Amino acid sequence: ARVVVLLSGTGSLCAALLEAADEAGYPAAVVAVGSDRPAPGLEQARRRGIPTFTCTLRDHPDRAAWDRALAAEIAGHRPDLVVSAGFMRIVGPAVLDAFGGRLINTHPALLPAFPGAHAVRDALAAGVEVTGSTVHLIDAGVDTGPVLAQREVPVLPGDDETQLHERIKTVERTLLVETVARLATSEEDPR
Ligand code: GRF
Repeated sequence: ARVVVLLSGTGSLCAALLEAADEAGYPAAVVAVGSDRPAPGLEQARRRGIPTFTCTLRDHPDRAAWDRALAAEIAGHRPDLVVSAGFMRIVGPAVLDAFGGRLINTHPALLPAFPGAHAVRDALAAGVEVTGSTVHLIDAGVDTGPVLAQREVPVLPGDDETQLHERIKTVERTLLVETVARLATSEEDPR
């Protein structure tokens, strides 16, 4: 399966997918990596000769134009699956219309608990003993789409946000690699 990855930051989740895809027999290939800003995570794709693109909101007259441009960039790479791996923007209707049902996101909490951009901080503030990682289909809401896979991660005494997020990200990487493989080999529409 052809996978386009979207990211905004360091791209350690994307790195895990790139490494998995290097293994013989992994059923998916990363054909492009895109971002909404000049993200450091694009560098690892460039080094491998994988095409990258950056679609910046402020380079477009409004969010709808940005959304259409992003959809066109992604479509140019003819993906079977689009993976938001630390992409810190809500995609719009153009992207959803084009890739709905094969557009997935990783989230650092056990959805429906702690949606939104501060999931790790919110879980710590709530004092839960267990949080985790969720891979889900993207729909029009914020972290509301159908859950495809989840794995628990313990909150340890004295954890700060960085420590807990790192522990979650270790699990997220494996969960994402496994879920992409599962979707790439399944005939069924994940919807
Ligand atoms: C992950 O925890 C992801 O769920 C969250 O941002 C983080 C991305 O990390 N939305 P990285 O940029 O892949 O290292």
